[in-house]
Amino acid sequence: MLTTSKELLLKARAGRYAIGAFNANNMEIVQAIVETAEEEKSPVIIQASQGAIKYAGLDAITAIVKNEAAKVSIPVVLHLDHGHDFEQNVKCLRSGFTSLMFDGSTFPLDENIRQTKRVVDMAHACGIPVEAELGQIGTLGTTDEPGVAIEKMKELMTKPEEAKEFTQKSGIDSLAIAVGTIHGCQEEIAKLDIPRIEKLRDITGLPLVLHGASGASDIEVKKAIGAGVCKINIDTRIRQAFTHAMRETLAKNPEEIDPRKVLGPAKLAVKEVVRGRMRAFGSSGKA
Ligand code: 13P
Repeated sequence: MLTTSKELLLKARAGRYAIGAFNANNMEIVQAIVETAEEEKSPVIIQASQGAIKYAGLDAITAIVKNEAAKVSIPVVLHLDHGHDFEQNVKCLRSGFTSLMFDGSTFPLDENIRQTKRVVDMAHACGIPVEAELGQIGTLGTTDEPGVAIEKMKELMTKPEEAKEFTQKSGIDSLAIAVGTIHGCQEEIAKLDIPRIEKLRDITGLPLVLHGASGASDIEVKKAIGAGVCKINIDTRIRQAFTHAMRETLAKNPEEIDPRKVLGPAKLAVKEVVRGRMRAFGSSGKA
């Protein structure tokens, strides 16, 4: 059942669990996420980045998610992850996305507020909630070691003193916060700034979103949920599981030419990642 994220996140916050937001860019990954959510009786968010939309096509992504969501009884949200411009948000809304994100985090505060509010006004006119980012979460590049990159991002963490103005003036529904994670981290090395999360929760009163959570251990994730995080984004762990399983299958059977024999095990590997995250986030059994 396709639904919007607003009530789900409020319910998760009240129940002190978090909903996993899993990135998808092909049919197998979408199916793995939805099937697992149904098995776990968990609400779920499937998100597509602009890169995923460019790769798969907006119509294809929307159609696959709508099709899979219609088969299950649990709530499924289709969310735009890091929409960098107004136009992408409009296109996704029109296509049937039930949750949007505008990421103006690299702009100065005033410009971030101005552009975010424009997306919020447009989306709210259609009853669709919007997430936005304040501070910068960043992405692991090829030059720095993960630990060094995380250390460098510290000065770009979300500032509680800016958060009130940002959330009140923009009118957003949830806030993506920079609190010690970085996108693309393949090791569980993130140490989260829990007091900062608590301050952001108290100042904004909004559901908080943890990006770059592949690099966070279960212990860190649980502390973050206790402090007010109720949406947790996972991409890298899915990529790792999918491609490692493909490599393993092809290494064992180098002559295999049937894509189904290669992608089938990859899908199963994604299912186990999603199941593990749902249990760690406490969302299993909450649908
Ligand atoms: P990871 O790639 O670290 O899992 O982060 C995903 C994410 O935050 C997508 O917005």
